[in-house]
Order: sequence, then C-alpha cells, then structure tokens
Amino acid sequence: MNFSKTSIKTVALALVLSAFAATSAEAGPREDIIAKFQAQAEAPANPANGEQMYNATYGTGKPDTPKCTTCHGATPQQGGETRTAKLIDPMAVSKTPDRFTDAKKVDKWFRRNCTGVIGRECTAQEKVDFLTFLAGQ
Ligand code: HEC
Repeated sequence: MNFSKTSIKTVALALVLSAFAATSAEAGPREDIIAKFQAQAEAPANPANGEQMYNATYGTGKPDTPKCTTCHGATPQQGGETRTAKLIDPMAVSKTPDRFTDAKKVDKWFRRNCTGVIGRECTAQEKVDFLTFLAGQ
C-alpha cells in the first residue's frame, strides 16, 4: 500500500517536472514570432541566408541606406546608429536579450527597413532566416 502510493507520487512529480521543462525550454514570445514566419515560409529557416542578408549590400532601396549595417552594427554583436546618430543596441540576442520579443515592433521595423534597404518588403522566408541567424548570435 505504502509502496504504491509512493510510486504514484513519484510518477506524478516526474510528469509535472517534464511538462515544466518542455514549456520553459521552448515557449516564449520570440519563439512564437519565429514560428509564425516559419509557418508562412516555403522552406525551413536558413540562418546562413540570414547572415548574408545581414551583410549584403542591396542598393535597391533608398540611396543612403544600401545595407542593414548602414544602421545596425558591423557585426551583430556590435551596436549601430541611425542616420540621426541615435545609438542602436546590438542585434545579437546574446547581447540584447529582449530582441525580437514584440511582434508589433518586429513587423514595423521589417516593413520600414526592408523597404528602405531592399526597395520591397521582406518575404516570410527572409524574415525567419534573419531572425534565426540573430537568435543564434
Ligand atoms: C535607417 C537605419 C536602419 C537600417 C538601414 C536598418 N535598420 Fe533595422 N532598425 C533600425 C532601428 C532604428 C530599429 C529600432 C531600434 C532597435 O530595435 O534598437 C531597427 C530595428 C529592426 C528590427 C526589430 C528589432 C527588434 O528587436 O524587434 C528588425 C527585425 C530590423 N531592424 C531588421 C532590419 C533589416 C532586415 C535591415 C536590412 C534589410 C535593417 N533592419 C536595416 C534602423 C535600421
């Protein structure tokens, strides 16, 4: 009797702990944002493409903003600055932990910056590639 009560308690505790571990490892606003773009993209996220976007010179948008690094840091670990010299925190999530955690902010800046740099909005594929690259930095 005592033995089986103990094992039921042990099993119940293990279930609670594993459920907790599963949610705390994965879920969060950034993961939700990435999952939403992934669902609209044609292929699995490709961080290498995101890295290329980060470093690319497009020159198809506004003449004074040919690249993402015109404003963002030369590397994701470095800060950058706007055209009016306001400082921009590093894009690397390891340096700026609240990066890409507000869906409205992410949408607003992708729209504005992709249009300014590339001359069109970014695709869902480009967005998920860019975000997974920076989430790993
Ligand atoms: C004209 C300057 C400028 C350029 C060029 C620029 N950005 Fe930004 N970007 C900003 C500013 C300012 C912010 C908002 C401040 C912040 O997030 O620190 C921002 C924020 C963002 C965010 C949201 C960050 C977050 O934490 O949610 C994304 C995504 C982004 N930019 C993507 C890009 C991409 C992709 C490019 C190149 C195609 C690019 N940016 C080029 C100025 C720029």
